Amino acid sequence: MKVLNIGSLNLDYVYHVDHFVQPGETLNADSQMVNPGGKGLNQSVALSRAGAEVWHAGCLGKGGESLKTLLEQNGVNTRWLLPVSELQGNAVIQVNAQGQNCILLFGGSNRCLSDEQVEKTLADFAPGDLLVLQNEVNDLPMIVEKAYERGLRIVLNPSPYDAGLAGVDFGKLDWLLVNEVEARQLSGCADPEAAWEHLHRETPGLSVLITLGSAGSVAWQVKSGSVEQFRQAAFSVPAVDTTGAGDTFTGYFLGGLLEDLPLEDCMRRASMASALSVQRPGAAASIPRRAEVEEALSRL
Ligand code: RIB
Repeated sequence: MKVLNIGSLNLDYVYHVDHFVQPGETLNADSQMVNPGGKGLNQSVALSRAGAEVWHAGCLGKGGESLKTLLEQNGVNTRWLLPVSELQGNAVIQVNAQGQNCILLFGGSNRCLSDEQVEKTLADFAPGDLLVLQNEVNDLPMIVEKAYERGLRIVLNPSPYDAGLAGVDFGKLDWLLVNEVEARQLSGCADPEAAWEHLHRETPGLSVLITLGSAGSVAWQVKSGSVEQFRQAAFSVPAVDTTGAGDTFTGYFLGGLLEDLPLEDCMRRASMASALSVQRPGAAASIPRRAEVEEALSRL
């Protein structure tokens, strides 16, 4: 089975700072780097490093050629990554002394997807293949409709949470992967259990994973009408940079589902992959390889 990720690619302009810049403040950064990133690209790399066969579709803008090379070096098929004349999407990221980040996004090339490109891309995929989406590209509702018509199974990571999600038919999704803030924004419930109950009432066929930062993660998988729940504690590690940790979790979690691993194994592996990633700087660059994840798990 193939995995298609129609997603963003960003150049991440990363600034290490003592604290996040405040309104009206001018702050000197300790260092600056330009890294490969974007939720789409990060998730494709994580899926591929987890062992999945991945196609990354989207738009490659001016200045973004190194991002295509990086995907290819990671074994990701880029046949449906098409050039556009816009500037490459990018992100300005502050990383503070605790390894936390705050991110300002500029969509650029990532917002140039056309109906025609989506249709031609989807035509290369068959019913049962998996489509992975985030909310950093344009026209999500159209992509979901067309992929559903074609019989693809659809996973949505609705990040960042904004108006681009309006009009997405959640009834056509198989999995929703969110952090606790997005779970609250979508359901109106701060408590993850209550958020799940709300989402399940609204969309009974939808499986949901909520990542909870240092509190771990919890998932509810709907299979043939019944629900399996599993809660995974986070592995406690010193964080250098949390950028891309959620994308690492997503890629490894989906990699596990594609191998038909039990839910608890998918979450354990994803949790370890994410714990390894936060101990390194960068987004895509911090994603561990499968052998490292397995080795770390075997040492527990
Ligand atoms: O999830 C991390 C990513 O969010 C960064 O790589 C940045 O590009 C933004 O898309």
